[in-house]
Amino acid sequence: MRSLSPEESARRIIRELLAVQPGERVMIICDRDSEMEMAHALANEVDALGGEYVISIMPSRSYKQANELPAAIAKSLEEVDCMIGLTRASGAPTYAQAVKVLYNARRLRAISMVMRTMQHFTRGGALADYRQLHAEGVRLAAIWQQARTIRVTTPLGTDIRANIGNAAPIIECGFATQPGQEAAFPDGEVSQGPNEGTAEGVIVVDGPICHVGIPDEPVRLTVKQGRVVTIEGGKAAAELRRIVEEVENADNIAEFGIGLNPNSLHNGDFEEEKKARGNVHIALGDNIFYGGQTQSAVHMDMVLYRPTVWLDETIVVQDGVLTFL
Ligand SMILES: [Fe+2]
Repeated sequence: MRSLSPEESARRIIRELLAVQPGERVMIICDRDSEMEMAHALANEVDALGGEYVISIMPSRSYKQANELPAAIAKSLEEVDCMIGLTRASGAPTYAQAVKVLYNARRLRAISMVMRTMQHFTRGGALADYRQLHAEGVRLAAIWQQARTIRVTTPLGTDIRANIGNAAPIIECGFATQPGQEAAFPDGEVSQGPNEGTAEGVIVVDGPICHVGIPDEPVRLTVKQGRVVTIEGGKAAAELRRIVEEVENADNIAEFGIGLNPNSLHNGDFEEEKKARGNVHIALGDNIFYGGQTQSAVHMDMVLYRPTVWLDETIVVQDGVLTFL
């Protein structure tokens, strides 16, 4: 299988996707589980082009406080131009409220590499043609922007609908070259938070789930007025139910996302698979990043296979195949 070296990957991220300029300041946020070889490769690349880097290391957060950045780090983000979230245990640099405030003020741009390993940075989705992906993301977002409802079904029985339009769809296709932009690496999705309180129906999750892993059997969630009311299935369902009962607002339907990346691997890892072309993910918990008002300690993506997606009357994904191109 073709792969990049950490140095090649870092060059792509710093020079092309984040487009760091000489004199710009870049903060790389790690935790105790981060791939430090990648942090150093990114820092070297910033250094080589005449930028200034800081690597900060925070505690590895459990799901109970997964979206909390230490105040010292949150505050120091006001003094940089770019952030790279490299935390492994949690997605705090991506989902923390302080970061969203800086995006909204057009004072920060960022690449999220959270909850990922070196495999993610060097193989699979990392190898995509990001210009092509971005063009496809723009096309899907243009259709999405016009719609006021979304519906997702799967062969296993998912049938969920929600109203949309209070927040704009977000294109995450690798590039974050302007202040206020955020992308991930690897990347390739368009997503949106549904209008709060409007999601209704059933979600049957057969792909990997954040903080839970690959389900032993499909997990069936019943959703009423934007909240999960029952979670049924086997061990994975019990684990997910425990988190949803324990963490405030973890029952909130926070995001619908459509994966676009043709290079993403189908390897049972939620961060890799949620970007895979034709997969859908639906997230529970915090929706601040998506323009909502509901804060939670978690933002948990759940991957669905072979989805069909309607944006109003337009089918954009049919049985796992993109149909909007
Ligand atoms: Fe997403």
